[in-house]
Amino acid sequence: MIEHAEIAAALPTVDDVRRAGERIAPHVRRTPVLEAEVAGRRVTLKLEHLQLTGTFKIRGALNALLSRPETDQVVTASGGNHGLGVATAARVLGVRATIYVPRTVPPDKERRIAATGATLVRHGRRYAEAEQAARAYAEQNGLRYLHAYDDVDVVAGQGTVGLEIAEQAPGCDTVAVAVGGGGLIAGVSLGVGARAVVGVEPQGCAGLHAAVAAGEPVDSPVDSVAASALGASRIGQVPYATLRTTSLRLALVDDAQIIAATHRLWEDFRLAVEPAGATAFAAWLAGQVPGDNPCVIVCGANADWTLNGGTR
Ligand SMILES: Cc1ncc(COP(=O)(O)O)c(C=O)c1O
Repeated sequence: MIEHAEIAAALPTVDDVRRAGERIAPHVRRTPVLEAEVAGRRVTLKLEHLQLTGTFKIRGALNALLSRPETDQVVTASGGNHGLGVATAARVLGVRATIYVPRTVPPDKERRIAATGATLVRHGRRYAEAEQAARAYAEQNGLRYLHAYDDVDVVAGQGTVGLEIAEQAPGCDTVAVAVGGGGLIAGVSLGVGARAVVGVEPQGCAGLHAAVAAGEPVDSPVDSVAASALGASRIGQVPYATLRTTSLRLALVDDAQIIAATHRLWEDFRLAVEPAGATAFAAWLAGQVPGDNPCVIVCGANADWTLNGGTR
């Protein structure tokens, strides 16, 4: 648990995001932007789902590991995109990774994490049990536990998506971002400078809305088609404190809108994305993203697109 005074002293800055960009550049893709049009409305799509591992998560993980080069072993808990990002970043940098996953993790995700060479530990039925065990293991062995979003280096790393948007789409005035624990939106809000930022959440996983209403991060329900990626039960303290220094708009979309947005991205642009990856686009389709020149971050592709699965 991070104390308030520590947070204030350690909030990420735009310089941290710039340094993160320099550090991770040799190891990540600079994902492209697509100038698109839907029903006569123009939008720029930042295709971050084409990032290595299928999401931006590798950016934060790489920055965290490169910021402390003495780290030779890292521990986290995640059967999803963060776990894959940390495991892949660790492999790239020659760091040993131990990833705790709940026994309920989908076999495909488990296979992809294991393929990086990371040590996979199955523990408990729920994520919270896996996390508790992972933290205990890290503490007992003096190892770094890498949080998925409540970490200054992770936020700075995710912010490099925003830096790229500022460079690739300089005329963009508003950026729409899906929110889980808040690491991506906090970093992006630093990286995009003065542009407006819209945080988009599923109605059933609205931790940032809940935090703003309560004036601090609070627990909130998790129930959405995008929950596997956006289902943090509480916004992180570092992201929340970072976002308080920016002007932020919020938007909510329901599951039907998210699913319709994944279909639209496929039908119109042949972009195959997971529900979380289409959540910000859903808000744009619903007219909830203001601005003359908006940019929507398409942030994840880790759906099962084999013939037996997929979101369609
Ligand atoms: C595809 C995707 N989009 C968005 C998010 C939300 O990121 P954050 O938890 O940093 O808000 C996640 C988190 O896992 C994700 O996997």
